[in-house]
Amino acid sequence: MRAEVGVIGGSGLYGLMDGVEEMVVETPYGPPSDMVAIGEVGGRGVAFLPRHGREHGVPPHRINYRANLWALRSLGVSQVLGPCAVGGLRAEFGGGTLVVPDQLVDRTSGRVQTFYDGLPLSDGTVPPVSHVSMADPYCPAGREAVLSAARGAAWEAVDGGTMVVIEGPRFSTRAESRWFAASGWSVVGMTGHPEAVLARELGLCYTSVNLVTDLDAGVEHGEGVTQAEVFAAFGRNVGRMRDVLVAAVVLLPEVRDCVCSHALDGLEGV
Ligand code: ADE
Repeated sequence: MRAEVGVIGGSGLYGLMDGVEEMVVETPYGPPSDMVAIGEVGGRGVAFLPRHGREHGVPPHRINYRANLWALRSLGVSQVLGPCAVGGLRAEFGGGTLVVPDQLVDRTSGRVQTFYDGLPLSDGTVPPVSHVSMADPYCPAGREAVLSAARGAAWEAVDGGTMVVIEGPRFSTRAESRWFAASGWSVVGMTGHPEAVLARELGLCYTSVNLVTDLDAGVEHGEGVTQAEVFAAFGRNVGRMRDVLVAAVVLLPEVRDCVCSHALDGLEGV
């Protein structure tokens, strides 16, 4: 089974494709979050991987991000869409806002965030040391496809902004959240890093698609963010998120010539 587009997202997005078959994929980095579902969207082969596992049993800091990206690439995927829930860091970004960020800040700690760490893998091979450019972490063509798909679905998305990624699984304190907002960052999530970085290290296109489920603690005036609030808001919006992703898959370029497709030019890749 092969696929050209990968989607890493919440298990509520399973209904994305027609003719789905599921596959166990092994990688030199261990198992991905779950089996990969492969099917078709508008004639394009799509591989869907539930980021937290089908039963939502894998917390953000324990996701095997390397295995997830490697598994998708091993199936032929070259372009990845990464929908995820985030908190809004601006009063105008309330629940139900869609953001297609163009920048990323890493506030995680202790996550493995590279394929190029020079350490031997389980199969005995030793990856090279390579430094990949990350100035603009997201695929420009993928971002355009998602923005245009959202417009077509009458759900105008915010074009650009910075996603700060925290280690989790706890939410931010009010002081942390106020600091993020004062830094000019737009949304806060727990899974956007190292997903984007690892995709780039494999030469894959990666587009982050952020669904705001709540206003983060530094912006709202109530009790702070709760898990129930986040899950409920995600549930309310999952249908239209699915519609946007389906439309975006079809709009992705069939031939890539973006910065991501050249990320490994002149470097020794894995
Ligand atoms: N995911 C959804 N809402 C969030 C928030 N407020 N902080 C971090 N991750 C989130």
